[in-house]
Amino acid sequence: MHEWIDTAVSDLADKGWALLPQVLPSPFCMELNSWIDQQVVLGAFQRAGIGKGQRHQINDSVRGDIVLWMSDPGRDQYLRDLENLLETVRQTLNSKLFAGLETFEGHFAIYPPGGFYRRHVDTFRDDDVRKLTLLLYLNQRWEKSDGGELILEMGDRSTVTIAPTMGTIVLFDSRRFPHEVTEANAERRSFTGWFKVRPLS
Ligand code: OGA
Ligand code: MN
Repeated sequence: MHEWIDTAVSDLADKGWALLPQVLPSPFCMELNSWIDQQVVLGAFQRAGIGKGQRHQINDSVRGDIVLWMSDPGRDQYLRDLENLLETVRQTLNSKLFAGLETFEGHFAIYPPGGFYRRHVDTFRDDDVRKLTLLLYLNQRWEKSDGGELILEMGDRSTVTIAPTMGTIVLFDSRRFPHEVTEANAERRSFTGWFKVRPLS
């Protein structure tokens, strides 16, 4: 299972980011999608904000997605599978790269047509406990014309463009890589999360 985690480990060690195209099986992603459908009907998704604590705000010119934070997976088998997978990734990175990842926070996100997320870094100004970003895309048929690409900026300012195709996972050092999501022309779904280290204090 999950041989891709080894690829992720070596790519993260070499260059600080990893792209694993379509590594999670479609049936699993489709189950997550049905769970998302139910949550949308229940009104559980909320407009996404930027910043943390008192600096938290909704800003339409920066991002236009709606999100649902992952909480206790309860009885949903597929959410539990996702949590177990994230835990396996965390433990593997800790044992092979001494990454010191302690906790995880994440949310499902839906970008409606016209949605985007301007260039940003995932660490907060007043809090750099986010160490590693994980993205999982859940879009079954994604064409170039659907836009919604992730543009990941390298240290030398060159960029890598990634399509949000179903089952694709992207991992990168949360502090080092500015990135943006270009305008989506179709509904775009993802799961985004951050492995965190213990705060210095
Ligand atoms: C984020 C983010 C990128 C993506 O939620 O912080 O940058 O491709 N998402 O969904
Ligand atoms: Mn981001």
